[in-house]
Amino acid sequence: MTAWTVLVLGGDGIGPEVTEAALEVLGVVAASANIAVEIEHDLAGGACFTAHGVVLRDDTLQRARDVDAVLFGAEGGPEWDAVPSDLDPEQRSGLSHLRRDLDLYANLRPIRNWRGLVDRTPFKPELVAGADMVVVRELTSGVYFGTPRGTSTVDGREQAIDTQFYTADEIDRVARDALSLARSRRGKLTSIDKSNVMETGALWRRRVSVIAEKEYGDVDVEHLLADAFLCALVQQPARFDVVLGDNLFGDLVSDAAAPIAGSLGMLPSASLGPPDANGRRRALYEPVHGSAPDIAGKGLANPCGAVLSVAMMTEWTFTRPDLARRIEQAVDVALVETGGTTDLGGSARPAELLNAILARLA
Ligand code: NAD
Ligand code: IPM
Ligand code: MN
Repeated sequence: MTAWTVLVLGGDGIGPEVTEAALEVLGVVAASANIAVEIEHDLAGGACFTAHGVVLRDDTLQRARDVDAVLFGAEGGPEWDAVPSDLDPEQRSGLSHLRRDLDLYANLRPIRNWRGLVDRTPFKPELVAGADMVVVRELTSGVYFGTPRGTSTVDGREQAIDTQFYTADEIDRVARDALSLARSRRGKLTSIDKSNVMETGALWRRRVSVIAEKEYGDVDVEHLLADAFLCALVQQPARFDVVLGDNLFGDLVSDAAAPIAGSLGMLPSASLGPPDANGRRRALYEPVHGSAPDIAGKGLANPCGAVLSVAMMTEWTFTRPDLARRIEQAVDVALVETGGTTDLGGSARPAELLNAILARLA
């Protein structure tokens, strides 16, 4: 039996805490399904900068290209503050470097309300119950990587510039992923942009329309301005199925939607590259939350975002959606049984929640 190889980059803050928890789930699920998984560990982010003076080493990047999947924890926090701020985004952020180098352009961020958490969100229970959406975020272009960028002083005044940039094919490929996903779910896509004020927004809307009309006539597509979308999201959190946005809007929208799931600590993600000749895609799985320096090392980190990221790995890399559903069901039951961690308004320790998940899986 050939083994899947997974490179684990725990990173900073609560990153290593939550990836270790997720690895326990991966171990139990893989063993029960007779799937061999080989785990490698390495450093990334501030932890790597402290040890090696760079946020990601070249041989780590090469390993990330070669393995079947990367499991990433989080990047950021005090050590990272020492990284010079005038570096390019790839040199400043190990995560940005990985996303860009591996061409992980399609970032899937599922957000749902959980049975045990219906009355734990800022929403009225009847509004949020049943909410189940996926934000598809373009991840390798847009204002994160556009040039020119930088800070300078002109005529004695300090100024900074970022550039929002998209090509039609960058929009087309992520639109296809979002439309395919919508087709496999409830058949609805909401694409968000600022086509009323931005050139890139107008191109975004035009390309998504063309791809949808030509190739996905069966998917119900709506275009909303990003500001109006956010208003609709908090008014009707259960209205959306797949939501497609550019790199920046996708980042903002997924955090804004996180309270639907009870906490930012609940959100997983998969970042996928283009399929190769065999249909295989490079993939990085990570919780949506950051390094949470305020709770790092205190044994308070909700492991569910990382655990559910492993579930996404079983679905997208191991092509075993049945295993993903098993993990999600175990999380669902464990939340009901334990009442959830403190970020969810519960009082369970993360270890208790993890043990309840593992018990259900066993
Ligand atoms: P954050 O996501 O780290 O934390 C936001 C809030 O949510 C904090 O109060 C934190 O305690 C809480 N939280 C987050 N994850 C949690 C979990 N699993 N369990 C319980 N509570 C949780 O965002 P921030 O504070 O804005 O950023 C901190 C650092 O993380 C920054 O350096 C930022 O750049 C970085 N960051 C990294 C990533 C990533 O690696 N993917 C994502 C976001 C932010
Ligand atoms: C995320 C984070 C990252 C982003 C940062 C840490 C570079 O917020 O993954 O959502 O902005 O993409
Ligand atoms: Mn973010």
